[in-house]
Parts: sequence; C-alpha cells; structure tokens
Amino acid sequence: MRKHIVAGNWKMNNNLSETQSLITDLKNQNKTSDAEVMIAPSFTNLWHANESLRTTEIEVVAQNMHFSESGAYTGEVSPEMLKSLGITTVILGHSERRAYYNETDESLARKVDAALKHDMRVIFCFGEELSDRKANNQEAVVESQIKNALFHLEADAFKNIVLAYEPVWAIGTGETASPEQAQEMHAFIRKTLEDKYGSETAENVSILYGGSVKPNNAEEIFSKPDVDGGLIGGASLKAEDFYAIVNAF
Ligand code: PGA
Repeated sequence: MRKHIVAGNWKMNNNLSETQSLITDLKNQNKTSDAEVMIAPSFTNLWHANESLRTTEIEVVAQNMHFSESGAYTGEVSPEMLKSLGITTVILGHSERRAYYNETDESLARKVDAALKHDMRVIFCFGEELSDRKANNQEAVVESQIKNALFHLEADAFKNIVLAYEPVWAIGTGETASPEQAQEMHAFIRKTLEDKYGSETAENVSILYGGSVKPNNAEEIFSKPDVDGGLIGGASLKAEDFYAIVNAF
C-alpha cells in the first residue's frame, strides 16, 4: 500500500535561530493523521534539524544534492555528505532548480541514480508551465519529464521514489490546481507508470501534489484517490498551518 506523505519544502528560508524556533513549534503539534511528515530545511540547518528531530516522527530531508561522490564542484553537496548526517531522503528536480539552475532531465537522471546508489529515497518533482497548460500540452510535458529522468530504472527502484506533481503556475502564486485537475494528472501519471512497469509498481508509488496547498484546501485535494500527499512550500513555514495540512488526511 502506498503511503500518505506531507513534506515541507522550506526553500531558502529560516536562519539557524528561526530553524530552532520553528522546530520547537513543530514539536508542539499533534499529529492525528497517518501521513509521514518530512521537512526540508536548507543545507546549513540540516544537521541541527536532524539532531533536534531524531526522536520524533518528523524526517529531515534535503532540497537538492550533486550526483558526484566528491570533487571540484564548488558550492555543491554530495550524497555521502548528506548520508553522513543521517539524511536519507532528497528532493530532486524542483521547478525552481530547473528554472534558475538549469537542471535538466539528463542531469536529474544522474542525481536520481546517485541517490539510489546511496540507498536514499528520492522525492522527484516535475510539472508543466502555464504556457503548456494553456496549450493543453500538460500531459505530454509531464510524461516526458518522468520518462527522461526515471524510465531507465528497474521497477524495483520505485520502492525508493516518491513523485511530486507541481504545476509551475501553481507554485507560490496562490493559484492551486483544482482538486479535479490534480486528480486527472495524478491518474495520468499512475497510468504512465503502469504502462511501463505494471500495476503493482504503479499502485505502490506515492504521488504528491504541490502548489499553493494551504490549510483551507488540503482536505479536498487529499480526498482525491490518486493524490497521496503534498509538497508544501509557503504553508510549511508556520507549524500550525503545516500540521493543519498534515492532519487533512
Ligand atoms: P508553495 O510551494 O506551497 O509555496 O506553492 C510548493 C513547492 O514549491 O514545493
């Protein structure tokens, strides 16, 4: 059975003391749902966050990593560096990294391989731009993003892959895909997986929705059968809001 997951992507927010205080607030929240909870602070706060949350239900995950083991890549962080802190999950392919740091399907395929090689779990993000949706091209775009970065993998690898559909036009804009639009795309994604890997693999992969999920719309989005959770940006920066979303399952 696939899992429900709610992951908070803090992006480039929160210095050390802000991280400490948000973590204190998170520890005071009550989880009433069956969702796995994750937060993704910036690299500089991963160690502290992971130490502070070690004995809790919250998993600390990374927002990105390099595909190489080590070497002359100024400013980058390797899988082994993350593993040495106890971080075993990484978000890859967020649309902001694709747009601002030129991440391509090809480089993302290498990152996915590196993560899996290090026994890490991947939250793989993808989604169409507004122009794609306006041209009714969203399914072709999403299909090619998934195929190019993931379809070289064996079915077994999908035990360690979580998918996150994030339409670019809905991220940080206050504009959410309607629950029906999310369900339609998630069902398409699952069908795409099924066509390649069979129904068992497809049924077991969690597919998260991301893009302006808030306490007031989470329940309706999460009620859709192919929506298995959320990747939450802005609303993950306040513990009460984040847990209202976690508890929307
Ligand atoms: P948002 O961000 O919830 O602020 O729209 C989602 C994301 O980028 O993961």
